[in-house]
Amino acid sequence: MCGIVGFVGTNKVKDVLLDGLKELEYRGYDSAGIAVLQDKEFSSYKAVGKLDNLVQKVADFDPKGFAIGIGHTRWATHGKPTELNAHPHLGDASYVVHNGIIENYQEIKNELMAEGTHFLSQTDTEVIVHLFEKYLATEATPFEAFQKTLAKLEGAYAILLATKSMPDTIFFAKNGSPMIVGVNDEGEKVFASSDAPLIGHAKDVIYLGDGEYGFVSPTALELFDKRHQRVKPSLTPLPTSKLSAQKEGYRFFMEKEIYEQSDVISDAMLGRLQDESINFDELDPTLFDGINEIKLCACGTSYHSALASSYLFERYAKVRTSVEIASELRYKEPLLLKDTLFVVISQSGETADTLETLKMAKAAGLKTLVICNVDNSSMVRLADASILTRAGIEKGVASTKAFATQMTVFWMLALYVSQLRNTLSIEKIKDQIHALREVPNSVKIDDNLHEKIRRLSKRYLHGHGFFFIGRDVFFPLALEGALKLKEITYLHAEGYPSGEMKHGPIAMADPELFTIALMPKGLLYDKTKSNVEELSARDSTICAISPVTFDKADDFIQTKEHGHYMLEFFEMMVVLQLLSMEISVRLGNDVDMPRNLAKSVTVE
Ligand code: M6R
Repeated sequence: MCGIVGFVGTNKVKDVLLDGLKELEYRGYDSAGIAVLQDKEFSSYKAVGKLDNLVQKVADFDPKGFAIGIGHTRWATHGKPTELNAHPHLGDASYVVHNGIIENYQEIKNELMAEGTHFLSQTDTEVIVHLFEKYLATEATPFEAFQKTLAKLEGAYAILLATKSMPDTIFFAKNGSPMIVGVNDEGEKVFASSDAPLIGHAKDVIYLGDGEYGFVSPTALELFDKRHQRVKPSLTPLPTSKLSAQKEGYRFFMEKEIYEQSDVISDAMLGRLQDESINFDELDPTLFDGINEIKLCACGTSYHSALASSYLFERYAKVRTSVEIASELRYKEPLLLKDTLFVVISQSGETADTLETLKMAKAAGLKTLVICNVDNSSMVRLADASILTRAGIEKGVASTKAFATQMTVFWMLALYVSQLRNTLSIEKIKDQIHALREVPNSVKIDDNLHEKIRRLSKRYLHGHGFFFIGRDVFFPLALEGALKLKEITYLHAEGYPSGEMKHGPIAMADPELFTIALMPKGLLYDKTKSNVEELSARDSTICAISPVTFDKADDFIQTKEHGHYMLEFFEMMVVLQLLSMEISVRLGNDVDMPRNLAKSVTVE
């Protein structure tokens, strides 16, 4: 997830920019850069990898006196993580930083290139600065050139632009991506894409609304709304605690990460969804040549996403798919055959058991792929190919958004393999892509839903156990729901296939056994319903999650109707995450750092 900072003031530009980028590190990034304008001259520095690489490059840079500056941490979407693709991007005499995505960038780029503009990067961002400079030549003022530039852009953005033609001014705009302006008694102006970098530098802040734009200088702060009307900035006091600022108003990192899922799922799909096909720039299609089986291997939540995706690989790509728990595979003397693609899944890329299985597969000569959230992690470095899930840094020990992006990537990958194997018609692929585009909406959280789950949670604080049940992909989701509950509430929970309950566990049914039933309308509804009725008849306490009203349940959480069962999957995933979190809160547990657990398990 990219981060933005900016500063107008005296003596502090380098520190404010670098400290600000440091504060934004937790969001995840793969390159960083700054541009400082002082005495009408720009100094710009960029580095790939850790921020320390940038810090070393600017060690001798000491801009004393008045200056303006903009900075950025980039999480690659369009184009690889290289210095050329890192922000700020240069025109002739202006620099820009940008978060979000310019959807019509290719069209603008084609126009500009036809007019002779030379592009240095593969990013969507670079069009902004070239467009601005084109209009600088035709418009009366730089601000009008900036306004005209914004009028051409479609998509989501937070933008800061500095130009030699107004050397004490930063232009800014926000539409869909966060941007905050901070002010203090010294007349300094500070920008950031979240609160934390502003703390210590600003007293009050303006949380920009979508469509708002303007400019700042030492003496001015001009703000315009989307109808181009000048508006009076509304100042809010800035929180003083950095930790709470990083949580952006949420009670816990886990809660923030649950709410972030819509955005990170969109990031996971960026550049990978075309109108009629799925595209993974990072994959060489020959990876799948000669492959007759996919073996997925992982631990914990990542194992659940692998298990859910095995249904999709077999259903859509018609490829034999097996799923292994890494700690089991290591010692079972597995048959590793060369016509198997070995796929490891890991949020961290460092989990010891999963890493070892990757080494085993490589030693056995198998082709390997990792699906991972952390670039340059051990698994990414070791595997033949990698797909990054782009969830940004996940701080809550109980994984939420990492799982959501793993599932998004897996769904796309199952379709990608089906394209290679010609197992789905173009029409069917298009329908699936249409559904995939709906995923970010399906995980948006309605206040009423969250409130209902919060109220309902008080009835689930005791009992002798929880059974989460579902069929097909909703069985791994049930496993994941049970794992979430165990991790942060310390209550006993199991995930089970709905149809298996009568083969043993139903003996436990009584009012103190809580059944959380996943009953999607779009997949095996009647079959699941019969299984839940069997439990209801034996007096288990039932909490049903379904778009279809179900009168045999004690509690009912109504989800929306969707055109694809996977959209029900994503919506129910959010319900389960919120339910665990709210039960944990009522029990007074540490939601973000549950006892006995570590975020990354690097021991066997
Ligand atoms: O980083 P990984 O995805 O390899 O981690 C695997 C598990 O340790 C992890 O998913 C764990 O189960 C989480 N705490 C789940 O919330």
